[in-house]
Amino acid sequence: MSKDEKYLTFALTKGRLADKTLALMDKIGITCTEMQNKDSRKLIFVNEELKLKFFLAKGPDVPTYVEYGAADIGVVGKDTLLEEGRRAYEVLDLGFGKCRMCVCGPREASELLKHREMIRVATKYPVIAKDYFYNRKHQTVDIIKLNGSVELGPIVGLSDVIVDIVETGSTLRENGLTVLEEICPLSARMIVNQVSMQMESKRINDIISKLKEALKTSEKQEVK
Ligand code: PRP
Repeated sequence: MSKDEKYLTFALTKGRLADKTLALMDKIGITCTEMQNKDSRKLIFVNEELKLKFFLAKGPDVPTYVEYGAADIGVVGKDTLLEEGRRAYEVLDLGFGKCRMCVCGPREASELLKHREMIRVATKYPVIAKDYFYNRKHQTVDIIKLNGSVELGPIVGLSDVIVDIVETGSTLRENGLTVLEEICPLSARMIVNQVSMQMESKRINDIISKLKEALKTSEKQEVK
């Protein structure tokens, strides 16, 4: 690696997605020992040998860092990509963080969905909800933005239904709610800044193909 090679910077989504991403990177020989110290409050980590930098960010900020080129590469959930609508190339489905974006509510609410009634929809994802109801279902709805624990919406009478992520379904079950309609499947995606993709195409494509190989191998191991 030449001395004046530029750093490639990764923006990772804090939490489980970052942990899984680092485990996958490790498989292709990209390690960042500095990042394994969970007690550290440091925000940016460097691998001098490979000329790589990593930082952790809140999910919705990852596509922003990538669009503006503050990070060359990002790892973020498809839900966040759809919601934020930032400019970046989506290059790889990492296959983990699998879940579904769904319309959920009490079972009775399915009638309201069938008859295109004017209903209230609580969600952390107003862009996704709007697109689904307006463009796909042609149903006019009132969308109410919440910041978390969205399942409360129908329980306390704020909304008729919610649009939210369902992974195991246990949050719904424990709160007497159910999936009424599925909007789309979700998983973690790798995104790349559009300029970086041109300027650093060799290094980035090399990382992408190694990751694809590693994903294939781990899929095969899972099948066995
Ligand atoms: C997410 C999502 C659901 C829950 C689904 O919430 O909004 O509430 O996970 O998972 P499950 O189907 O496995 O129960 P998160 O934990 O991210 O917190 P939030 O409610 O504050 O958004």
